[in-house]
Amino acid sequence: MNRLCVIGDPIAHSLSPIIHADFAQQLGIEIEYTKEHVTAKQLDAFLQAFFSQGGIGLNVTVPHKQAVWDWCGTLTERAQAAGAVNTLYRDRDQLVGDNTDGAGLVDDLLRLGVNLTDARVLMLGAGGAARGALLPLVQAGAQVSIHNRTQARAERLIEDLQAGRLCQPQDEAFDVVISASSAGLSDAAPSLPAAWFSRETFAYDMIYGSKPTPFIQAAQTMGVEHHADGLGMLVAQAARAFQRWFGELPDTAPVYQALRRR
Ligand code: ATR
Repeated sequence: MNRLCVIGDPIAHSLSPIIHADFAQQLGIEIEYTKEHVTAKQLDAFLQAFFSQGGIGLNVTVPHKQAVWDWCGTLTERAQAAGAVNTLYRDRDQLVGDNTDGAGLVDDLLRLGVNLTDARVLMLGAGGAARGALLPLVQAGAQVSIHNRTQARAERLIEDLQAGRLCQPQDEAFDVVISASSAGLSDAAPSLPAAWFSRETFAYDMIYGSKPTPFIQAAQTMGVEHHADGLGMLVAQAARAFQRWFGELPDTAPVYQALRRR
């Protein structure tokens, strides 16, 4: 049996076990994927036991995305750029730390029919989520501008990754606006210049929910007609992790549709 899990604190609401069970069924692979409540104090002992008992890989969520670095013999380029690991897998005798969030975002935008080649993309936020998304967006051909409540943090992100530019108040409507801010988690409605949005703008929120997120609602009041929340990104980043473990990329569409119905 292929033993996998997701670790975090809290973890109860994780959808990862459902998503990976669907992928495994789709590809005829037998897995046992559990969610494990692991505190910072328990992390080392948990990882030690998990891998010594034959675990083949795992997903990592808050608050362990940096702490697992010490366990990785190698970090992929995108994990280094993101400054965070969300997937661990074995490569021969080594544990590799990867980050599939940015690739999942790009995959989901493409699934939604958003053209990223030369697209003018505005990214809101400069925290961990934005950091993980910046290079994958640029590599997909997008021209990325960044806006953050704390401008110095956006400047540091651009400097660190040598990618993107600071958004300017006089910028015209963007093709795509992506919210990578955690503001929506506290239900705050972001206040943004209406000039950055038009009817043709595609608004994407990395956060997801059963109703439109505060960012999507704000975008709609500025005329945006096409939008999506981050449920598709969740499924797509999981698919990229599954690919790391088993070498096959699952089809995300049926899994996404089943989750959306829930
Ligand atoms: P994550 O890993 O989810 O990206 P993070 O690294 O703490 O979390 O980053 C949170 C992001 O959301 C930051 O860009 C933060 O802006 P600041 O850098 O100014 O803190 C942004 N954010 C959080 N709450 C916000 C709010 N109420 N209004 C605007 N931006 C907010």
